[in-house]
Amino acid sequence: MVQIIQLMDKLTVNFCGVEFKNPLVLPSGIYAAANAYLKAYENGASGITFKSLTVHKREGNPPPRVWKNEYNVINSVGLVNSGIAKGAGEIALFKKDHREIPLIASVYATRFSEFSLMVEKLVPASPDLIELNLSCPNVDDEFGKPLGMEKGAAGKIVGEVKKLSGKIPLLAKLSPNVNDIADIAKSCEGAGADGIVAINTVGPGMMIDIYKKKPVLGTKKGGVSGPGILPVAVRCVYEIFEAVKIPIIGMGGVLKWQDIVEMILAGATLVGVGSATYYKGMKVFDELNAGLTKYLADNSISELDDLIGAAHR
Ligand code: SIN
Repeated sequence: MVQIIQLMDKLTVNFCGVEFKNPLVLPSGIYAAANAYLKAYENGASGITFKSLTVHKREGNPPPRVWKNEYNVINSVGLVNSGIAKGAGEIALFKKDHREIPLIASVYATRFSEFSLMVEKLVPASPDLIELNLSCPNVDDEFGKPLGMEKGAAGKIVGEVKKLSGKIPLLAKLSPNVNDIADIAKSCEGAGADGIVAINTVGPGMMIDIYKKKPVLGTKKGGVSGPGILPVAVRCVYEIFEAVKIPIIGMGGVLKWQDIVEMILAGATLVGVGSATYYKGMKVFDELNAGLTKYLADNSISELDDLIGAAHR
């Protein structure tokens, strides 16, 4: 028992000054209810990201919103959320009741001024970190491409928000659907970002139900996640690691503990596990932590830090 606890201790990670008991976090965009966040934590996630908030409440896209096959998940949720006023209150309450759980708040906007307005409202709720979602692909039809698909705009958002976020570290969540994700990450770092989150979903993509002879999603197209996108995510994290000095939360297609190791070797300090919960349930976090712990022991690796970015050395 003592040995297992000592081994689990090796998984502890410091990310932007916040202590995480292991590198596995729940990304934004997957669940939108406090009981799901708690369940993820109880099953071994070390931190949780709240669903991205927008200025106003959103009912989301027409159903079906999520679909999966054995290789991929496709979603077009459309940022269902209660809006910043109510959402900031929910975050404050969650933080009050669960101080021990590292909480990442996330915001999405289609105007520069909206990002600032939301971050101002979030700061008093005291999330541990704030994620700027610069990359949701599921609201393009309504608003056009996300602002953060281009390095000038991404840097401008980070720079403006940084003046308001105080001591709360600021993360930029980037899209893989761009020519040069590392260049955008660099621009965010230059503007004051404390960390990068990569990647949001790939695409947009489409899946067709061969019996109904129709696209499976209500909006026809959506963001693709799940095991099929892992190599894209690993490549993006690898390139970002080469371009910036700030830490990275790597995510996209992680299903097995081996995928976690790949992400960390590419340069991730924390790893987001989202779609895997659709395949294996919340217990996947404990399963991945156990696999990672055994890998460290079997390979005589004493600290997780020794693995971060090791594929570059
Ligand atoms: C969604 O709500 O449509 C997904 C969130 C995201 O991709 O950022």
